[in-house]
Amino acid sequence: MQNKIKQIIKDAENFSANEIDKIEAFRIKYLSKKGVVSALFEEFRTIPSEEKKEVGQLLNQLKISLQNKISSLKEHLTKEAIAGNIQDLSLPGTSLNQGSRHPISIVRKEILDIFSRIGFTVSDGPEIEDDHHVFSALNFPPEHPARDMQDTFFIEKDPDILLRTHTSSIQVRVMEKSQPPIRTVSPGRVFRNEAISARAHCIFHQVEGLYIDEKVSFADLKQTLLYFAKELFGEDTKIRLRPSYFPFTEPSAEMDVSCNLCGGKGCNVCKYTGWLEVLGCGMVDPNVLEVNNIDSKKYTGFAFGMGIERIAMLKFQIRDLRLYFENDLRFLEQFSGVI
Ligand code: DAH
Repeated sequence: MQNKIKQIIKDAENFSANEIDKIEAFRIKYLSKKGVVSALFEEFRTIPSEEKKEVGQLLNQLKISLQNKISSLKEHLTKEAIAGNIQDLSLPGTSLNQGSRHPISIVRKEILDIFSRIGFTVSDGPEIEDDHHVFSALNFPPEHPARDMQDTFFIEKDPDILLRTHTSSIQVRVMEKSQPPIRTVSPGRVFRNEAISARAHCIFHQVEGLYIDEKVSFADLKQTLLYFAKELFGEDTKIRLRPSYFPFTEPSAEMDVSCNLCGGKGCNVCKYTGWLEVLGCGMVDPNVLEVNNIDSKKYTGFAFGMGIERIAMLKFQIRDLRLYFENDLRFLEQFSGVI
């Protein structure tokens, strides 16, 4: 019996396996209830008592060496599994990248927030419009060049259905369904048939403002826009209004803000003028009020409109309009953390 046990100890020492199934089969063969070791213990009961001490020690040695063999094979197996890139469930997970708002959304929200603080509501209108809301009700003469095919994307002719070229169409929608006092800002996407370049795109975003009440004056317009410019670009910002022309406002103006990069001293962003053009504005033309059933003898109002892309370009020093639409993560990730 002693020789038998010694032989098994030798066999076990020489055994090697690198698959869990083989190790398990080895364990069952020797250490299970009906395995070799159990059978040896049975046999052990029948041997003469003077042999018991020695054989007993050998049997215990066998059992221990089998157990050691199995655990060392298993440990080796785990190390190999990791080296072979089999997933280790105890490793910490990889974290997900956090998304960020698009710069256009950031600036749109900021503009709307600034006007909300002084009582402006937010209103909306359709992107697919008719001639009346985009041009006629805004006092555009029939031959005005903005109606031209070169500027406007037409969907149908006679009656004209088109993609709105500006958010001023929302003014008309608001006036149609409400009477003064009206104080609202209207963000939206607009479309123009332009060749795409660093400075022009066929899709862009605007925010329109409209304020109609009794005794609204040009001074109210100026003060509102000054407040807006200071909130958006900083307390030291100055504004200037230059005379301009829009069919729906009289008088009309364009507003510049002092360049926030050079503080008005002149740099390449403001083209060494110290000023940046940011929006168009004016007093709502009485014709526009009348067409939209608002009594122009009782009420006056002002309006303004600005491009969100342009303001975001100035705020974030973005030099190419196309970046807004390309969904390049290297660009978009720069705005993470800006709320
Ligand atoms: N709709 C004009 C544009 O797209 C911007 C504008 C100018 C809007 C003057 C106004 C305004 O409300 O009063 O260029």
